[in-house]
Amino acid sequence: MCGIVGYVGPRPALDVLVPGLEGLEYRGYDSAGVALIGSDGLAVTKTAGRMADLVSALESQPVQGSIGIGHTRWATHGAPTTGNAHPHRDCDGSVAVIHNGIVENWAALRQQLLATGHEFSSETDTEVIAHLIEERAGLSLADAVREVMKLAEGALAIAVVRTDEPDRIVAARRGSPLVIGRGQGENFLASDIPAFLKHTKNAIAVDDDRVVEMTADSVAITDLDGNPTPIAEREIEWDLEAAEKGGYSTFMLKEIYEQPTAITDTLRGRIDGTGRIEFSELDLDTKIVRMIDKVFVVACGTSYHAAMMAKYAIERWTRLPVEIDIASEFRYRDPVLDDRSLVIGISQSGETIDTLAAIRYAQAQGATVVGLSNVVDSALARDADAVIYTRSGPEIGVAATKTFTTQLVMLQLFGLYLAQQRGALDPGTVGNLVAAIQELPQTVERALKLEDQIREMTTEWSETRDFFFLGRAGDFPVAMEGALKLKEIAYVRAEGYPAGEMKHGPISLIEKGVVVIGVATDSHVRAKTLSNMEEMKARGGTIVMVVEEGDEDDVASVADHIIAVPDSPDLLCIVNAVVPLQFLAYHVATARSLDVDKPRNLAKTVTVE
Ligand code: G6P
Repeated sequence: MCGIVGYVGPRPALDVLVPGLEGLEYRGYDSAGVALIGSDGLAVTKTAGRMADLVSALESQPVQGSIGIGHTRWATHGAPTTGNAHPHRDCDGSVAVIHNGIVENWAALRQQLLATGHEFSSETDTEVIAHLIEERAGLSLADAVREVMKLAEGALAIAVVRTDEPDRIVAARRGSPLVIGRGQGENFLASDIPAFLKHTKNAIAVDDDRVVEMTADSVAITDLDGNPTPIAEREIEWDLEAAEKGGYSTFMLKEIYEQPTAITDTLRGRIDGTGRIEFSELDLDTKIVRMIDKVFVVACGTSYHAAMMAKYAIERWTRLPVEIDIASEFRYRDPVLDDRSLVIGISQSGETIDTLAAIRYAQAQGATVVGLSNVVDSALARDADAVIYTRSGPEIGVAATKTFTTQLVMLQLFGLYLAQQRGALDPGTVGNLVAAIQELPQTVERALKLEDQIREMTTEWSETRDFFFLGRAGDFPVAMEGALKLKEIAYVRAEGYPAGEMKHGPISLIEKGVVVIGVATDSHVRAKTLSNMEEMKARGGTIVMVVEEGDEDDVASVADHIIAVPDSPDLLCIVNAVVPLQFLAYHVATARSLDVDKPRNLAKTVTVE
């Protein structure tokens, strides 16, 4: 949570920090601030509210300097006020710190600092870092940060400036993301690459427990004892345009429309000329693949809905038992894991702390962990024993869209890969399903054509407060995701439920005015879902049916609206069925004039437990 940016070089630092922070607002946006070192020393400007508020404050009170740090916050400790906004300073105002994460032992550290006379001006955990650095005024800034990193517990990505070393930023990372951008005579740091991509494509992912010392001409990285560590620089393949709206009114709409390309990119190189599945990056011993006797899938939010689908796919195609867990619950149920367990951690950002904690727990029990992430070199990618990447490009809208559909595709392919490697399915069946997966960019492209129909449909629902999304089997995760999207961005009550379970309670909520969306693309269970939808209609619900093209007549008598998606075999149709529900949430939200890219109370990357 929170976005951090730093710049050192010849330009006015604000020219880099402000657009950089605007590009990181998806990480949190309840306050923002910058600290610059210029000829007048250290100047800090910060405001509650969004970046626009900071920009107005900077206009009325300009600050200058060619070295600076900036922050956009998602509050954890302390309300979203100007006082709690970052950067935070020490007592005499010579140190400024920005931080993403939580200093878990902040209360004890604060007590010690108060006892030695430090005065605090915020309620945040972060401010202890500024005072701890102040206590180490006799050390170089880098040495002071190394010491503080040893004292502070929890997840930290920090960047610090100090007036007696006005040519450098010192940054450190443990648990929260931090990337360095190396330029010519200038250097950048950020929580995420789009913040500096306009200026350089050369990025260095910083490992945990590393301290970075950055001047205009140099980047040095050490461990916490000051030993230099190797720097692995790589060139970013996507450009800034990919991270901008590209003509769409919102990032979310752009990202919905990018799904065919994202799926194509994700599939590239994964299927050889003979139809065999290959994961070149998956460094997983075939022996382990054959030895596994149980699979667990852990994830949060939308990624958890991908996990739900993965259970059906892997069980159906490999006959291995699969358990799925919301990552924040996994450790607490004492799951039975051993060295024959395969744990799949799904996180588009690769930084969700609950998912990281779950996979680390599994590794400690001897399990093999495969990570599925959209972010190269993310913490999940680095911690997992092996990694598979979706290749969606950056997703800026807080509500996941293209990262979800590419997760679905990758998990289907991975399920078939396991079946292929273990000989669980005959090659002909694998080949047919793989061929159908390769058709998904085209079927999703056709599903995108449903937007006008859905926009029209949602105009009736401007006052509707209650929605249910129902499905069985593979349609159930689609229903869950449809409901989550609507809750996230339109702020209406939307419940995803197994269609057959409604009669055991929630059916009492169905009355005139409630919209019930039934997803019935899975031919195994379609007839049963239809009977359940008749039950909803009989109680006065407005019925929307999502079915495969060609099945419209079967649902005409029950449905007030029919959404027909392109058909794809087996579980693959799930990918097509998700698309209209993304539009549904989108148009209900935009009709209510809501900011779909930055829904209230949410953040794109959640690095707190
Ligand atoms: C946040 C986002 C959700 C996302 C979840 C998991 O809550 O708002 O949209 O699904 O995190 O994110 P991950 O990066 O782990 O997939």
